[in-house]
Formats: sequence, C-alpha cells, structure tokens
Amino acid sequence: MSRKYLIAGNWKMNKTASDAVDLIGEINSLVGDETSVQVCICPPFTSLSKASESVERSQLLLGAQDVNAASSGAYTGEISAEMLRELYVSFVILGHSERRQYYGETNQTVNKKILTAIENNLKPIYCIGETLEERESERTLEVVRTQVREGLENFPTSSIDSLVLAYEPVWAIGTGKTATDEMAQEVHAEIRSVLTEMFGETAAASIRILYGGSMKPENAAGLLAQEDVDGGLIGGASLTARAFVGIVEAARGA
Ligand code: PGA
Repeated sequence: MSRKYLIAGNWKMNKTASDAVDLIGEINSLVGDETSVQVCICPPFTSLSKASESVERSQLLLGAQDVNAASSGAYTGEISAEMLRELYVSFVILGHSERRQYYGETNQTVNKKILTAIENNLKPIYCIGETLEERESERTLEVVRTQVREGLENFPTSSIDSLVLAYEPVWAIGTGKTATDEMAQEVHAEIRSVLTEMFGETAAASIRILYGGSMKPENAAGLLAQEDVDGGLIGGASLTARAFVGIVEAARGA
C-alpha cells in the first residue's frame, strides 16, 4: 500500500498575516513544482485569508489549527468549519496536546470536532501521544490506543481517505527531544493495528500517520524511513522556510 507523504507545518500562535505572506512566498519558491510529497501549512486563523491567496496556483495546501464542533451559533470567539472551507482550507489539526493541556480538550470533545470536520469536507489531522509520565510508567501504547478508539468513535468508514493521524509524544514537542526511529515505529505500528481493528485492514493500510515532536531536517530522514511513518507535523522547524522545506526534501528522498 503506498501512502503519499504529508508534511504539515503547525505554526501555532506565530506570524501575523503579513509575515505569513512572506513565509509562504519563501516556502513556495523552495518547494518548487515537484508533487511527490503533499505539503500543507497551518497558520493561525487571522492569516488564513491572506494565506489562501498566497497558496493559489501553488501546490501548497492550507490547514487550520482548530474548529468548533457546532456548525454555527452563539459561540463567542469560535470558528466554524464552513468559515474555514470558504477560505479553501483542506486540513484541520485537532486534539493537539497544547489544546488538551491548556484548554481542557478530551478525546470526547475532540471526537465531536473530528465528526464535524468530516461532515464539512475538512480532513482532520488527529493528534495523539503520551506524556513523559505515561511513557516512564510504560503506559504509552495503552494511552495511544484509548486516544485512537475514543477520538475516532463513529468515524464513517466511507470517509477514511480523509483521515490523518499524528503521533506526537508530548515530551518531544518543542523540547528538542525526539523519539528514536524505533520508538516512533513501535507506536505507529500500534496505532495502525488499532485502526485495523476499527476499520479493517485495507482502510487502515491507507491512513497516513504523521510523526510530530522536534522533527527537523537532521532527523527527518530516519523517522520517515520507518514503515508506518507517513509524514510529519512540524512545529518550530516550520517557521523558517529552509528548515521546513529541508524536511519536505527528506520526504521526497525517503
Ligand atoms: P515541534 O512541534 O516540532 O516544535 O516539536 C510539533 C507540534 O507541536 O505539532
């Protein structure tokens, strides 16, 4: 089963709209025309409008960093899936550990957002991963299994092509510590086995599972060479064009 690599940049709360235009311009010129790897950038909401103009006529895809589970209504400060679709957003990062940690999101709240995203033709990038304490107490696989099962409850098999997962060990995010290639492969294989139980072998074999957590050009090739690692969700290294495109190049060579 061949899965096309996806390299997605999670800008988090960085870059104004005008900074975004500059960075997208640089990324565009370095990425060029080769389309063997899918490349997506996920700027803050305030940059999406300008970003959607900047990615037009390029191969870059656009992602958002969250979406509300409701389709519209009295939810001050929130953004709906329809608002994102109008700006040509294709992907949406959901369940990121920072949202779980700082905004109280749970597998259940994230599940609702995932189902809303799918109903509105947005492709969820569902983030899961263990904390340091969970790894040290050897609960990594159990934690990740539960996150997959609960977060993807009632996910329609007919939309499986739109589903992306990202394994992001919490202790590796923004810390400079990366999972070893073997650690990443072990967890990715476990995730795929839960997906197989839930959706069947063929569907599970088609789902992309990204690695995230201090991925950079220097360690990308080793991680991406693992059988069940199908791309990267990149935080810090997505904020400079050279580093980000360095990872895209590693994926092209993998
Ligand atoms: P990092 O972030 O690459 O800066 O570790 C990854 C993420 O949080 O998605």
